[in-house]
Amino acid sequence: MKTYIVGNWKLNFTVGEASVYLHKIQKKIANYRDIEVVVAPTALCLQPLSLQLERSKVRLAAQNAFYRDFGAFTGEISFAELNGLVDYAIVGHSERRYIFHEDDKMIAKKVAASIRNKIRPILCIGETESERAFGETADVIRDQLLGGLSEIGEDEVSKVLVAYEPVWAISSTKDAKIATPDEIAEVVKMIRDNLKEIYGAKVAEEVPVLFGGSVKPTNAGAYLTVPGVNGLLIGGASLILSQFTDIIEVAKRVK
Ligand code: 13P
Repeated sequence: MKTYIVGNWKLNFTVGEASVYLHKIQKKIANYRDIEVVVAPTALCLQPLSLQLERSKVRLAAQNAFYRDFGAFTGEISFAELNGLVDYAIVGHSERRYIFHEDDKMIAKKVAASIRNKIRPILCIGETESERAFGETADVIRDQLLGGLSEIGEDEVSKVLVAYEPVWAISSTKDAKIATPDEIAEVVKMIRDNLKEIYGAKVAEEVPVLFGGSVKPTNAGAYLTVPGVNGLLIGGASLILSQFTDIIEVAKRVK
């Protein structure tokens, strides 16, 4: 399986800044057969960046979209509009869940809309600090995973990528709040066990599982060698070109 290195830029970079960044990164990195480099800029950047892109080096992801294709939904953009512009879409990021109140039902519809429009969804799941403290991690992971997949057919599940992002480890500045490889391994096993139980062993092996939460060049190697981890979803470090390209180098070495 490929290694996925995905930069989630969140609400950062104007169109001009994003364009310059993409230009620089394409110059700096090679064509990797085994590593899929993906960036997720703001929605406004997707159209211009898609024209600028050498898809062999970098692919685009949306950070979010609405599940209905067209209609009276003021302020939304749809997966149907993104069809052809992006290869991936982040769905159910914890910032969407907790700031914008997206629940598993809505996220399931977004996963289905993404697949319907030929865009591979990156379904984000992860427990909060208090859920972990109360011993609810396994239940949260199962609910968010199976809930998110509930609107698609069994034959479509292997088009989905799952990103485990423990909410407590996102944008962390304290060492205590950085996930250890053992903690990640335990949850990644839960994810694959759930997939195996519901969809069978083949699907459980085919679905790429990414890790996200304060990934840096210094910990990327340890995270990428966690059994069952196929890539990284990177926030803050993906905004700094040298850090993002260093992480790609680490992925190449680990491969
Ligand atoms: P950080 O890498 O900044 O912790 O963000 C992780 C994340 O939320 C990626 O989607």
